[in-house]
Amino acid sequence: MAKHRILITRKWPEACEARAARDYDARLNTEDAVLSPAELAEALQSYDAVCPTVTDSLSADLFAGDPRTRVIGNFGVGFNHIDVAAARAAGITVTNTPGVLTDCTADIALTLMLMAMRRTAEGERLVRAGGWDGWKPTQLIGSKLSGKTLGILGMGRIGIATARRAQHGFGMKVIYYNRSEVAPERLAGLEAERRGSIEAVCAEADVVSLHMPGGGDNTGMIGAEALAALGPEGVLVNTARGDVIDEPALIRALQSGAIRGAGLDVYAEEPHVPEALRALENVVLLPHMGSATAETREAMGHMVLDNLDAFFAGRAVPNAVG
Ligand code: DGY
Repeated sequence: MAKHRILITRKWPEACEARAARDYDARLNTEDAVLSPAELAEALQSYDAVCPTVTDSLSADLFAGDPRTRVIGNFGVGFNHIDVAAARAAGITVTNTPGVLTDCTADIALTLMLMAMRRTAEGERLVRAGGWDGWKPTQLIGSKLSGKTLGILGMGRIGIATARRAQHGFGMKVIYYNRSEVAPERLAGLEAERRGSIEAVCAEADVVSLHMPGGGDNTGMIGAEALAALGPEGVLVNTARGDVIDEPALIRALQSGAIRGAGLDVYAEEPHVPEALRALENVVLLPHMGSATAETREAMGHMVLDNLDAFFAGRAVPNAVG
C-alpha cells in the first residue's frame, strides 16, 4: 500500500524526522522556513496529513474547498492558531501533544518567577556589559520568592505542575482561579485554595502565573483591572499565550510601576516583541522556550506521529481536540 503523504511544517528533532520519513511519504522542512498562508492552503489540498505548529496560522479560509488533508497533527499542546471548528466542518481531525511538555513548561514558569523577583537578568546584563564593580549591600535588591503567595490562573496540567513546584520547592501558598471546578484528586498533595475571580487572585497574590489557553474569550483577559489588583509589589508570569494579556496595558503598568515586574515567554504577535517592552529593566523576556528541551521536543514529535499512526490505522486517536 502506498504510504500516506504528510507535511511537517518546521524542522523537527532528528529522531522524529527519521521516524516520519520511515513510516510516511514525508515532506520535511530541513531549512526550517515558515510556510506562507498560500503554502499552507496548498498543503491542505495535497497532503493526507499536515503537522503544523504554533508559527502556522490555520484560519477558517484555509479549510475552504475540499481539502485532501484528513488529519492535522499539531506539534504543541496549544492550538489557538488552528480554527478547529472550521477543520471539523471540513471533516478534518485535529490532534495536539498534551502532557509531555508539562514539566518543562512549569520549570520555565518557575525560572521566570525567580528571574523577575530576584532581578537575575539585570544582574547578568550588568556582568556581561563589564559594569559590575563589586559586591554592595544595596545592589540589585530583589524580592524573596520563598514563602510568598502564588496565584495560578488556569489550573490545568501545567498550572498544577507549577503550583506543586512552588509549594514543595519554595514553600509558597497557592491560590487559583479556574472557570470550572478542578477534580480534587488532581490536586492531591497540594494545598491550593480556589478564588472566585481573576481580580481576587491578583489582589491576594505576590506572583501570578498564567496557564489558560489562548484565543477566544481569553484574549485580553489580563488587562488594566487585573494589573491594578496585582499592585506595585506584584509580578506577572506568562508561559501560556501572549494574547491572554492586553500587552499595551502591561507595558503601561510596567512603565509606571503599577506592578513590580513581569516574566514573559510568549507575546501577542510573535516573534514581534514591542520595543517598549525590550526597553524596560523590570521585565524578563524569553523567546517562547517553555518546552525547549531535547527530551520534551522529541516526545512531542513522537506524540504527533502516534496520533497520525492511530488515525491512519483506523484506531481511536489518543489526542484529538475540539
Ligand atoms: C505549546 O505546546 O503550546 C507550545 O507553546 C508550542 O506551541
